[in-house]
Amino acid sequence: RKVVVLISGSGSNLQALIDAQNTPALPNTRIALVFSNRKAAYGLTRATQANPPIPTSYLALQPYLKANLGKTRADYDVEVARVVLRENPDLIILAGWMHIFGEGFLDLAYGLKPLEEGEEPRTPVSVINLHPALPGAFDGANAIERAFEAFQKGEITQTGVMVHRVVKDVDRGEPLIVKEVPITKGEPIEAFEEKLHKVEHEIIVQAAARVLEEAKPQRVRAYL
Ligand code: GRF
Repeated sequence: RKVVVLISGSGSNLQALIDAQNTPALPNTRIALVFSNRKAAYGLTRATQANPPIPTSYLALQPYLKANLGKTRADYDVEVARVVLRENPDLIILAGWMHIFGEGFLDLAYGLKPLEEGEEPRTPVSVINLHPALPGAFDGANAIERAFEAFQKGEITQTGVMVHRVVKDVDRGEPLIVKEVPITKGEPIEAFEEKLHKVEHEIIVQAAARVLEEAKPQRVRAYL
């Protein structure tokens, strides 16, 4: 099966997927493309240095808007969908992807709109996202820091990480895997973050394997 991974940063979760390719953890699966919205994302280097090397592509939003005056963020999302769907992936994984997609990307990925005018609607492609918090706890950016702060204030005793289906509302899709992670009193945020990333690396592979095993995704109404 073919997977496309979208990243914005160091790509340590991408690395976990690279290492799991064609192992019992992620059988007969290969990453066909790594796409980033940041040219400097180290994850692009991880893909290039993989053995065999994994094709990469990037398109940053601001340069795109400057180079295509009149085009909007929605056009950018459609352009990203076009590049990603051209690979005909079975699964799209957002692994440390720091850009909130509008409906345009999901309409195309879920086959609700044709890529090209007049084209047959495509089979829906599953889209999953990794988020370092428990469902509904710290949606959006800086979830780890916000959880750590809440712990310091005694508001929570534990946090966690999850992989969920991507829907229109940020980080609100059906959770596929949720792992609770206890916070140890007095531990520095670096140790806390390290603990969370370790769990992320496990569940990103497990979630990918599970979604790839399920039958072809039904036309996704839930995200509407
Ligand atoms: C991870 O914590 C991910 O959940 C969050 O950003 C971080 C990216 O890590 N969205 P990496 O780029 O996979 O190392």
